[in-house]
Amino acid sequence: MARERLSSKGGTRARPVILWPAAGPEQAIRGEEGIDVWCAALDLAAEELARLERTLAAEERARAGRFVLERDRERFVAARGLLRQILAAYRGAPPEALRFRYSAKGKPALEDAGAGLEFNLAHSHGLALYAVAWRRPVGVDVERVREDIDVEGIAGRFFSPKEAAALRAIPQAERVRAFFRCWTRKEALLKAWGEGLPFGLNRFSVSLAAREARILETPFTPSESGRWWLYPLEPAPEFVGALAVRGSAARVHCREWRLR
Ligand SMILES: CC(C)(COP(=O)(O)OP(=O)(O)OC[C@H]1O[C@@H](n2cnc3c(N)ncnc32)[C@H](O)[C@@H]1OP(=O)(O)O)[C@@H](O)C(=O)NCCC(=O)NCCS
Repeated sequence: MARERLSSKGGTRARPVILWPAAGPEQAIRGEEGIDVWCAALDLAAEELARLERTLAAEERARAGRFVLERDRERFVAARGLLRQILAAYRGAPPEALRFRYSAKGKPALEDAGAGLEFNLAHSHGLALYAVAWRRPVGVDVERVREDIDVEGIAGRFFSPKEAAALRAIPQAERVRAFFRCWTRKEALLKAWGEGLPFGLNRFSVSLAAREARILETPFTPSESGRWWLYPLEPAPEFVGALAVRGSAARVHCREWRLR
């Protein structure tokens, strides 16, 4: 299925060149303004990986153990270990002390919901993005731009007529990147929503432009629709992503997470 091909987590071990400024725990915003998006490479040295693995819960280690490929296991451990490290910096708690719960559709959240810290993560081909916000749902997605997919076929099945037409109007050389911008914007919105697909994927539209991400045809009720925002993300040369948030428009801080 197209979706399975698109969400392939494979790829080489070449470490992505992250374009955002490096920062770390001390820069994690503890106030409640703005939204942070952290980017991290997942192919780590063995000792870094072992250190992160020690912070995982039994359920996460069991999940890691179910991956067939060692590379996928290691990337899962890295993604979860880094998630814990990032959230721990905001909570002022040890990474191993955090507990997650999951929505019916699988969206993770902190068990300690009263703290108001919301997050979401995405990973593709050795790169992870983490969105962190206070008291507002967030969704993030990232994909490595790659040529081995049937852009027109997938757009015909999953994009709205407006998006498919916009994609066809884009010169061939830029079309694949525009396709991934569209895909990640739709996906980020769905991940922020967190309830799966209450509306058809092709029943809402997002913009495809590089610099500006907008919802063009809303999937929400009129009272809800003005509360959702999309932001384009370009964390590394071969990757595109998107952030979706609910609430008022906010400043987004994009940085590379420096492993501690
Ligand atoms: C569940 C889903 C969000 C995962 O997407 P993916 O591309 O395979 O993976 P991503 O890297 O984007 O995100 C994975 C992370 O999202 C989080 N996640 C899982 N389910 C989620 C949900 N329902 N909502 C938000 N986040 C979710 C998890 O933290 C997961 O990481 P983990 O498994 O390592 O803990 C996706 O399969 C889905 O249902 N998408 C919506 C429908 C769709 O087809 N969209 C296409 C847009 S055109």
